[in-house]
Amino acid sequence: MVQVAPSLLAADFARLAEAVEMVDRSEASLIHIDVMDGMFVPNITIGFPVISSISKIAEKPLDVHMMVMDPGRFVGQVRDAGAAIMNVHWEACTHLHRVVHSIKDAGMRAAVTLNPATPVMLLRDIITDLDMVLLMSVNPGFGGQKFIQNTVSKVRDLRQMIMASGSQATIEIDGGVDLTTAPALIEAGADILVAGSYVFRAPDPQKAIADLIELSK
Ligand code: DX5
Ligand code: ZN
Repeated sequence: MVQVAPSLLAADFARLAEAVEMVDRSEASLIHIDVMDGMFVPNITIGFPVISSISKIAEKPLDVHMMVMDPGRFVGQVRDAGAAIMNVHWEACTHLHRVVHSIKDAGMRAAVTLNPATPVMLLRDIITDLDMVLLMSVNPGFGGQKFIQNTVSKVRDLRQMIMASGSQATIEIDGGVDLTTAPALIEAGADILVAGSYVFRAPDPQKAIADLIELSK
């Protein structure tokens, strides 16, 4: 069954606790948190003090997506803030192997994120070290963008690479996920769908989450 990770980026930041409580009550598996530095992406969002406050009330594991340059600098702070998963961009790490292992040594699950134009095959020599791969289906930086269709074939390539290598990595997708884009992703082998606007703009966010999961039943 597909899992859902609602992205708090689309929530009302003046009512973050209500958003976290809604996700905790829902069928979602993870809480996705988008950290941006205004350099790697043209936006600035949530930082460590906010993640710490969220982790004090959240029951579900925090999936922290680091859209920052050189994210290896922040492994200790991300762990101390309460993250279960630290997602770093392939494009932002010069020494990806070192960063991945420092995330695992810190006790978190290690995930590597690929931008839409970054090919899956670049992960070939690290795939067995990863707990998760996040494929961006929009250019990172903003919620509410249009789904980039070639992500579906990237999911297929990645699924094949994972099977051939014996890797345990799960496949997560982020950007433009809704009831129209999710079916092809699920069919191609996606395990976890991040959804921001689709969930938080829905009249009933908990039902919106359940409806996404229902697609894979
Ligand atoms: C974008 C973020 C996403 C964002 C997705 O850079 O990484 O997590 O919240 O938003 P939607 O689901 O609205 O495309
Ligand atoms: Zn994200």
